[in-house]
Parts: sequence; C-alpha cells; structure tokens
Amino acid sequence: MRNWVLITGCSTGIGQALVPLCRGAGWGVVATARNLASLADLPPGEDLRILALDVTNTASIAAAAAGCAGLRLKALVNNAGYGQVGPLECLRPEELRAQFETNVIGLQSMTNIFLPLLRREPGARILQVASMLGRLSIPLAGPYNASKHAVVALTETLRLEVGREVAVVLVEPGAIKTAFRDTLAKVWGDLPERVRGTRYEAIIVGYLAQRKGQAERFAMGAEACASRMLTALNANHPPRRVVIGWDAFWVGKLKAILPAAWWERLLRMAYGLG
Ligand SMILES: NC(=O)c1ccc[n+]([C@@H]2O[C@H](COP(=O)([O-])OP(=O)(O)OC[C@H]3O[C@@H](n4cnc5c(N)ncnc54)[C@H](OP(=O)(O)O)[C@@H]3O)[C@@H](O)[C@H]2O)c1
Repeated sequence: MRNWVLITGCSTGIGQALVPLCRGAGWGVVATARNLASLADLPPGEDLRILALDVTNTASIAAAAAGCAGLRLKALVNNAGYGQVGPLECLRPEELRAQFETNVIGLQSMTNIFLPLLRREPGARILQVASMLGRLSIPLAGPYNASKHAVVALTETLRLEVGREVAVVLVEPGAIKTAFRDTLAKVWGDLPERVRGTRYEAIIVGYLAQRKGQAERFAMGAEACASRMLTALNANHPPRRVVIGWDAFWVGKLKAILPAAWWERLLRMAYGLG
C-alpha cells in the first residue's frame, strides 16, 4: 500500500514541479487544480489521481476529501496561492478579501477538511507554503505580505494544537521562477489607471518588468524548490521550517541585525520610494 500526498495548485510552478518528484520517490499523488485541462499532460499511472479543486470553494474541497477517503493520505501540501500587489492606499477591500480567501482561508479550510483523513496515518504531515514575505514586508505588496504573515501565524498555531499527531511544516521560499509574476499582472486589473497622478504612477509603470527581470536573474528554479519540499515530505522527523533560497535565508538575517530605520531606508530605495 503506497502513501499518498495531495497537492493544491498543480497547474503551474512549484505544485507542478512537485508532482513528478513525489511520484519518482514512490508517493501516490493526488494532483489538483482549478482547471483540470492544466493537468492533462501528466503521465497516467496507478500512483496518480487527478481532482478539480478550488481552495476558495468549500464544496470543491469537500468533494476532493470524499475522493481521497479510500487512500492512505499521509501528506497535504497547501501550495495554492497568488500575489495581489499595489499600494495599500489604492487597494480595494474586495482585492484584500480575495487575497485572504485564497492564501489564508482556503489554506485553513483545506487543512480542516483533510485533518480527519491525515490523522488516520501515523507520521502524517502538512506542508504549508508561506513565503519569506511571511516574516518581513516589502512595499507595494501589502495584501500578499499580510496573507503570508497570516499563514505563518496559522501554521505556528496549528503546530501547537495538532503537531503531536500530524507534523506541520512551514515552507518559506524566496524568489522562485514560476508563473507567479505573470499572475501578478493578471490580478492587478486597473491598478495602473488607479495610481495615475499619484506618487506611485512612475513606480508601477516599471514594477512588473523589474520584478520579472530580477526573478529571471536571481530566482531559484521550481524543481529545486520542490526538491527541498520533497525532503520534508520524506523525512522521518519533519522539520518545523524549510527556508528555501539564499534570499529567504539572508534577507531575514539582514532584517534582524539592521537598525529598523536602515532597513526601511533600504527598502524605500529599492522600490523607488526614497
Ligand atoms: N514564485 C515565488 O517566487 C514564490 C515565493 C514564495 C512563495 N511562493 C508561494 O508558492 C506557492 C505556489 O506559487 P508558484 O510560485 O508556484 O506560482 P504559480 O506558478 O502561479 O502557481 C500558483 C498555483 O496556485 C493555484 N491557485 C491559485 N488560486 C487557487 C485557488 N483558488 N484554488 C486552487 N488553486 C489555486 C494556481 O492555479 P491556476 O492556474 O488555476 O491559477 C497555480 O496552480 C504560492 O502559495 C506562492 O505564494 C511563491
């Protein structure tokens, strides 16, 4: 009998990269995505189940859990998420709500509905994909920063509450090369018009190109990130935190040692808010 892992957000990026790695390591994988067509290229096999899953839809989560009832589900990877960016003073409440619906409430709903299945398996584990922005904040990404800080808080709380039965692993990647930055542009909608005439106008014009350019040059590949997550999935004693990438490691350290005023100055300069 093989162990199974359910992964959210397998259409692209880290989730997509994790599926073949887990299968290669002997896991059965329940690969999920909002759009099933995005999973059509996965090689079929006894070790693969494909399910439609939108983490903001409780009925969809419940249906996925029902579909896993007959499996030895030993791991859940709460990976699905996206970034809502834009200056906070230009943000619409519904944008903030939507960001939390997916990155925070969706993640916790998944955990709550799948916990009874996971509890059946000794050594079960949940991997919660946060971000290095779960412990520090950058300008112009307020909704995303806030959502990932919330993921860190939920994860630490969950570990205190259920960690003796089900291991809870916080995954904190730095910049990873995925579709993440393309989605930023899709979800910011009319932001460029909204910031017209404000101090953010010029910054927003170059924002996406700059972020993409930096990611192309410095970001880690999705497979390398997924491989670090696989190590946590396979570990006999899963770690509490998996910090992925030199940026996630060093930026956190830098923030801890720099005086707050210097840290803020650096960030304002980096984002053209000097
Ligand atoms: N890339 C980075 O630099 C980076 C850094 C730190 C943390 N992260 C985190 O890593 C995780 C994966 O992101 P990624 O970099 O792999 O980006 P990605 O390529 O854009 O993948 C995001 C995945 O989440 C899915 N998703 C979004 N909303 C969903 C919903 N309501 N229900 C189900 N699935 C949903 C997307 O599906 P659709 O195709 O249907 O939109 C996609 O499969 C995210 O939580 C992200 O915040 C990324």
